[in-house]
Amino acid sequence: MDGFSGDVDLEDLDLDSDADDSGEADEASRGLFDDLLEGEPIFENKEVLRPSYTPHKLPHREEQINNMATILVTALRGETPSNILIYGKTGTGKTASAKFVSEELETTSQKYEVPCEVEYINCEVTDTQYRVLAQLANKFIDKNGRYIENRLEELGDLRDRAAEDPAELDDTDFDSVAAVENEITSLESDLEEFDPVPMTGWPTDRVYSTFFDAVDYHERVVVIMLDEIDKLVEKSGDDTLYNLSRMNSELDNSRVSIMGISNDLKFTDFLDPRVKSSLGEEEIVFPPYDATQLRDILQHRAEIAFKSATLSDDVIPLCAAFAAQEHGDARRALDLLRTAGELAERGRTETVEEAHVRKAQEKIELDRVVEVVRTLPTQSKLVLYATILLEKNGVHNINTGEVFNIYKRLCQEIEADVLTQRRVTDLISELDMLGIVNAIVVSKGRYGRTKEINLSVPLDETEAVLLSDSRVGEVEDAQPFVQARFDN
Ligand SMILES: Nc1ncnc2c1ncn2[C@@H]1O[C@H](COP(=O)(O)OP(=O)(O)O)[C@@H](O)[C@H]1O
Ligand SMILES: [Mg+2]
Repeated sequence: MDGFSGDVDLEDLDLDSDADDSGEADEASRGLFDDLLEGEPIFENKEVLRPSYTPHKLPHREEQINNMATILVTALRGETPSNILIYGKTGTGKTASAKFVSEELETTSQKYEVPCEVEYINCEVTDTQYRVLAQLANKFIDKNGRYIENRLEELGDLRDRAAEDPAELDDTDFDSVAAVENEITSLESDLEEFDPVPMTGWPTDRVYSTFFDAVDYHERVVVIMLDEIDKLVEKSGDDTLYNLSRMNSELDNSRVSIMGISNDLKFTDFLDPRVKSSLGEEEIVFPPYDATQLRDILQHRAEIAFKSATLSDDVIPLCAAFAAQEHGDARRALDLLRTAGELAERGRTETVEEAHVRKAQEKIELDRVVEVVRTLPTQSKLVLYATILLEKNGVHNINTGEVFNIYKRLCQEIEADVLTQRRVTDLISELDMLGIVNAIVVSKGRYGRTKEINLSVPLDETEAVLLSDSRVGEVEDAQPFVQARFDN
């Protein structure tokens, strides 16, 4: 079994080997993962640092969590809680806190046997009125199905007992075995009537009424959590919220309360005033974390995530400081810590050091830039590419006119529409806001004012991303016409 041993000496590998001894080479390369598995890994449980993990403790969010609970406790008394709107930038713990509260609410409702249910929807994924209503309808159809089946089991049992001893019916709503039978038949037909909503194809009002009937099937208080609600409104308007927020006046058995969660503090500006006042009955703000709070959060998670004594002392404070600069984002802090750990693991060191955190910061920043650049519209990519070509030729403090000239040539080269210099100036301002270029307005005395543009992102990586775009990649060789600019 030599071929399976971890030690592969590259010199032993005959890379030019013929087809008939390729079996041997194949076996020899089985050491591939052994190398990587070697050495003590740094992580005890890396999953704990991923966004999908829901922590059981949320330090520095006691106030917000208590506020939510104070409003929602109404549901446990069988009444309708006020609608709640939650605001805060990304990574301030909104989703984690909302999920925590909803789990507690459901557990308590089961303990006291009060019918209260929470439905969570992520509107970044489920982003049209049709999909939101269909998803809700189908969830309640499922729940009703389980509710009916439990009830059928109880009733079947009661019927059997009552058939032997009619006194079994004394404390029930039924006066005869036949009445129990009737109820069973009626429930069985209800079970068949619920028609799940298909993913597409029904008129919206049919989806809505299916959802409505499913929710109203029996007495209960329902809290609908719409996370990333700003994405839903941005994409599909506020019809969904309008419909949901006026349901209560028509429901007979159940009550609905809405909890909207938004990353965008100004999102209610886009809402119909009626929706706005109904949805924002209660508002809870999640402020950014400061560096000290981020340290606490990281400390808690690090204890479970890492093997003991693998983090050097300055790692957590540095992750916290970087993330605090980035608007107090706990997600960024956790990403940094995880990435730093991964870099240490890849470097086969035994501890995570400050240098790993700095590298992680660079890596995450670069990933962000790559993603932003990759998703720019073609015209912005061409403007950015023009800027890069100028920088590559040693031009700094580039002005708008220079960018425009090269941009025009690029457009001609790939037969794209040429925008006006004014529009190009706007696109440059957008690139500035995204942090891709830095454009400052400078006065040129009697020649008026111009912009001085410099690239704020790594040149080579950004160029590579631009050229991977199928349109921009059509530019064969830009050097001649960039060079021509210097010649005249
Ligand atoms: N107070 C906290 N304690 C522990 N972890 C937190 C806390 N706040 C946020 N997190 C973690 O940070 C990440 C981002 O939080 P999340 O709730 O998704 O933010 P938001 O929904 O506001 O964008 C998640 O991994 C979450 O578990
Ligand atoms: Mg969230």
